[in-house]
Amino acid sequence: MKASDWSQSCGSLIEGVQLANASDSEIDQMRQLLAQRGVLFFRDQDFAPAAHLAFAKSFGDLVLNKFFMPVEGFPEIAEVRKEADQTTNIGGGWHTDHSYDVAPALGSILVARELPTKGGDTLFANMHAAWSALPDPLKQRAKQLRAVHSNAHIYGRDGYYSRTDLASSLKGSDDVGSATHPVMVRHPQTGAEILYVNPAHTIALEGLAREESEEFLRVLFHHAQQPQFQCRFNWQPGSVAIWDNRLTWHLAENDYDGERRLMHRITLAGEPFPLPT
Ligand code: SIN
Repeated sequence: MKASDWSQSCGSLIEGVQLANASDSEIDQMRQLLAQRGVLFFRDQDFAPAAHLAFAKSFGDLVLNKFFMPVEGFPEIAEVRKEADQTTNIGGGWHTDHSYDVAPALGSILVARELPTKGGDTLFANMHAAWSALPDPLKQRAKQLRAVHSNAHIYGRDGYYSRTDLASSLKGSDDVGSATHPVMVRHPQTGAEILYVNPAHTIALEGLAREESEEFLRVLFHHAQQPQFQCRFNWQPGSVAIWDNRLTWHLAENDYDGERRLMHRITLAGEPFPLPT
């Protein structure tokens, strides 16, 4: 197995391994690299749904997504689907998966199943790099704060998707909820400091007046969206990406109207972050 940096800011390209028969020691190396680089990219994988599921179970515990439709016969695999006649996509804004859960997901394993002829890239952003580059006074302030993360305004009955042409392709609109996490968290494996707020799911900073909370979140989001923290993955048939949801944000480009894009995602379970006292 050979790993090389995908870009300076994040990601590793892993070559010389088929995920469908990766050994325990290769999976262990992948876990270490993931915690360092935030996202792992693989090409030319022969990775049917049963192999995807078996690999994910070897990598860690799984968590089911409540809002995406499952793949037939595989309730653990969620479809990330945009049809040719739909204009809205899933994950089209910067986010981390499941930050609205009390135990936010460790990561996700995404497999390309049907791709548009062009476009449909996924962008990632390194939130350890974003935190490290934050000016000290902002770090000091952010370190004292907890943020509220929710999915109601996105997947709920009157949420964003209910007003789009994806409404009937999603489920669980009554199964929404929220959770509170520190604004700065430490990576459970490496101890690295991470900016843990994201534009899609973070709705407020606890204890601040609404305007103050919105203003500080705006500053943090603006800072974290700078191109120097980002990398871009261009999907090909057989491509797979595994990302760490604590360390990275991601965004699925929606630039392929008129074509279908279908991905299969398995979400890996994580653990709650200790709250600052
Ligand atoms: C997601 O946000 O989990 C999906 C990303 C993608 O479809 O590229």
